[in-house]
Amino acid sequence: MVVTVRALVVAAAAVAAVALFLAAERERAARETRLAAEAGRVAADYGATLLGAVKGAIETSGLVGAIGFCKEQAPAIAAEQSQRTGWRIARTSLKPRNPASAPDDFERAAMADFAARIAQGEAVAAQMRSATVETAEGPLFRFVKAIPTGEPCLACHGATLKPDVAAALKQLYPEDTATGFKAGDMRGVFTLARRP
Ligand code: HEC
Repeated sequence: MVVTVRALVVAAAAVAAVALFLAAERERAARETRLAAEAGRVAADYGATLLGAVKGAIETSGLVGAIGFCKEQAPAIAAEQSQRTGWRIARTSLKPRNPASAPDDFERAAMADFAARIAQGEAVAAQMRSATVETAEGPLFRFVKAIPTGEPCLACHGATLKPDVAAALKQLYPEDTATGFKAGDMRGVFTLARRP
């Protein structure tokens, strides 16, 4: 009888522990879904702001002028939006132009996976990955979303560049690998992070 009561207590404790664990898991999953949705909005906002700014720069100062603009303003706009939103915002690529934008392991693995899925026929724009990862400073929520290459991108990222564009890129980015793209290719990703 004593054993039975003890067994019941143990079983009840186990059930309570599982229930607590499941509740914590549900809570964690809900928080990650919320963060991923927010990251998606912040990334879209950054993309739209950048696109508008680059188009404006091409109109006012031509393609070569817009290259310098990209160099200064892409990181500056990211910094300003990071400040405002609390998200660390950047872009990276398996074929970066700016070596400072080279991917880390998380980003490289995500892009390799996206590339495999795209090769299977999935849409570039649908590719995203998010996860909470452990870092030396504690947990970090990470979000990566593919950026499709559009027609206007080809002037600076395509297979054939105008000579003055090619020359300007070579001068500013001697290690440039971000050419040879076709419309519809994955150009790179938005990569965002924040403390959960
Ligand atoms: C006027 C030329 C120009 C056009 C047009 C342009 N880019 Fe870029 N792009 C650049 C330059 C210059 C950089 C490097 C910026 C830096 O130094 O951070 C860059 C960097 C990037 C990066 C960051 C990773 C890397 O390679 O360093 C991504 C992603 C990117 N471009 C995507 C696009 C997409 C998508 C489009 C079209 C919507 C586009 N670009 C149009 C010039 C251009």
